[in-house]
Amino acid sequence: MIKKPVAKILGTGSALSGKVLSNFDLEKMVDTNDEWIRERTGIERRYILEEGKANSDLAAPAAEEALKEAGLVAEDLDMIIIATITPDTSFPSTACRVQAKIGAKNAAAMDVAAACSGFIYGLTLANSLIATGAAKHVLVIGSEVLSRITDWEDRGTCILFGDGAGAAVLGPSEGDKGILSAYIKADGRLGDLLHLPGGGSLNPATHETVDQRLHYIKMEGNRIFKHAVRTMRDAALHGLDLAGVDASELDLLIPHQANMRIIEAIQSRLKLSDEQVFVNIKDYGNTSAASIPIAMNQARREGRLKEGNKCLLVAFGGGFTWGASLIQF
Ligand code: UT7
Repeated sequence: MIKKPVAKILGTGSALSGKVLSNFDLEKMVDTNDEWIRERTGIERRYILEEGKANSDLAAPAAEEALKEAGLVAEDLDMIIIATITPDTSFPSTACRVQAKIGAKNAAAMDVAAACSGFIYGLTLANSLIATGAAKHVLVIGSEVLSRITDWEDRGTCILFGDGAGAAVLGPSEGDKGILSAYIKADGRLGDLLHLPGGGSLNPATHETVDQRLHYIKMEGNRIFKHAVRTMRDAALHGLDLAGVDASELDLLIPHQANMRIIEAIQSRLKLSDEQVFVNIKDYGNTSAASIPIAMNQARREGRLKEGNKCLLVAFGGGFTWGASLIQF
């Protein structure tokens, strides 16, 4: 039996800005080639935010597009949650900066750090806030400027990441539309397989940490790959189970866009057709917490996600963190 949702998505938005860096551009920077990147990841190009701009410069326009579609103004927001691992600054939070930028003077604001699963974490929190009545309108944004923490000398990681932001405005649901399940989990024991060692209280910035390149993403890609496939498959099944929906009933799966081969493995394990899976990794690369809301906005604009459709979001990321959410639009 499908549960009655308490919260629904009222509007979505996204923002992509800066230089488009192609695989051919990367060939000139590290020992790699277009064919390898396309075959191993599915990526062809990615956005790199202009110098001098920051995360909130992407998050704010994404938020404004989502608010406009929701038919709301910034003052209507009670809460802003930004999922990110690349905030403007450690503090104030990027959510506070966006609150000021868009003029959401009635909203509380905070960042959530759950890496690539961050948007699903944010959505889950928003759903709970609306369910308890603590908030009526919640803005959830996934926004990343990964180019600032990417080691442009490491071919194992620099080919993967891109910058971007996606947003959703949530409000109360009275009918059948809305969040039918929201599931999040974590396992901190394997955190060092994908991490940013420098800049926190463990390794504060010094000349040595800069020389040792500790302020860049470190990743054991191959080991992460295996966990990502298994965990995203399990999360997807859990998200469906909690809502009492079978994979065959799905109109669209929107997986975190980390690697085309990971997406294909999940598609095949859930026995989904190409039409049931949304993929845009070719154009944006892996934008971490931003990948799902960017894809969701694109799917809606392209008519791949229509009124009444059932859509499953599923993600896996550093931490490890993972989660899934089934939404009826
Ligand atoms: O966002 C959530 C978390 N992140 C992920 O989900 C990422 C998951 N991992 C991956 O997407 C993949 O592991 C990568 C795309 C990062 C790497 O693909 P892979 O198939 O796992 O390659 P590999 O690391 O096993 O490397 C295979 C070979 C190696 O050469 P040898 O040892 O076989 O001679 C690498 O040195 O490919 C080499 N290689 C490259 N060659 C050309 C590694 N990176 C590159 C490169 N260009 N950029």
